[in-house]
Amino acid sequence: MPSTVIVGGFYGDEGKGKIVSYLAMKDNPVIAVRGGVGPNAGHTIEHEGKKYKVRMLPSAFLNPNTRLLVGPGVVLSLEVLLKEISEFGTQDRSFVDYQCGIIDDSHRTADSQGRLKESIGSTGTGTGPANADRAMRTLKLAKEIDSLALYLDDIPNAVNFALERKEQVIVEGTQGTFLSLWHGTYPYVTSKDVTASGICADVGIGPKSVDEVVIVFKSFVTRVGEGPLKNEISPEQAVAKGWQEVGTVTGRQRRAAEFDFELAKRSIMLNSATQIAITKLDVVYPECAHMQSFSDLSSPAKYFIKTIEDKLKVPVTLIGTGPEVNDTIDRRNQ
Ligand code: GTP
Ligand code: IMP
Ligand code: MG
Repeated sequence: MPSTVIVGGFYGDEGKGKIVSYLAMKDNPVIAVRGGVGPNAGHTIEHEGKKYKVRMLPSAFLNPNTRLLVGPGVVLSLEVLLKEISEFGTQDRSFVDYQCGIIDDSHRTADSQGRLKESIGSTGTGTGPANADRAMRTLKLAKEIDSLALYLDDIPNAVNFALERKEQVIVEGTQGTFLSLWHGTYPYVTSKDVTASGICADVGIGPKSVDEVVIVFKSFVTRVGEGPLKNEISPEQAVAKGWQEVGTVTGRQRRAAEFDFELAKRSIMLNSATQIAITKLDVVYPECAHMQSFSDLSSPAKYFIKTIEDKLKVPVTLIGTGPEVNDTIDRRNQ
């Protein structure tokens, strides 16, 4: 699979970060390139007893052989990006495109108050107002920023060059399909399209350069911020089921609902998904925690996975059974 695109199938926070980390360790890609909106995303990754939070760099940083690229469609927080490069020690393999947009304090201020904050429930990270300025053609770009000089590159060129040589590339999406500005629950959405096509445009690859689209679904649905959530359960019910989660970026409580097959079907359609990754199977079926083989799963858990495959007509190739990167069942070669 030379090029694999990873996208969120629901409202973000499906666990894409962990899946990308697993694929990065297992498949050893030369490049992981991030599309999506910007530092409004937050991935939590756990490996060998350490917990990492990443908002700007690709989640593949745990593999020291992988170059970490950010495509021109992404808006950058300089503070978050430079902090992550330094914290993860990836100075020699982190690159952002000349044309990435730059978020400044005015964007963060506009995003932290008024309608965006109160009625949409934005993350307050300035991504929406920065993208609005980009549409107005007034946004500053990475090539104008001195502190980024060492990290600038032509990202579409680097990615397409690797693909021509049949090298392995992971294209990492952020947020989730129903937060897409085009396909989501408008106006309760983020400021860009975040389906597979949008993510590919963000990093500069065309539709014919994609081999696999892995759509990530959590075993239940969560949503942060405002907007509809079908069959939403109360916070007390979520606690009783062990489904309560807190947002990586904002610390807000995530709202929860049962797995939604109708939503999943539409998501498969919008993304041309070729494989499904299911995360947090251990949260719904605790007896499956840390398992790495499908045959070891309990009968109800196997039935849940089979039902997903029957209803959605796409194979479930990866299954998360815990937050640790290796808590993964990989059925790609089984
Ligand atoms: P966005 O790009 O912000 O949409 O985030 P994301 O899709 O990378 O997900 P995020 O890391 O915000 O949330 C997923 C949470 O679930 C994290 O705390 C992960 O550590 C955790 N997680 C991921 N996969 C599994 C799993 O299979 N089992 C369990 N128990 N936890 C998981
Ligand atoms: P914004 O993207 O910060 O403008 O926020 C718009 C909506 O998208 C809010 O409901 C946010 O909670 C949600 N959102 C944005 N990014 C993410 C993400 O990475 N995970 C989950 N929700 C997100
Ligand atoms: Mg997240």
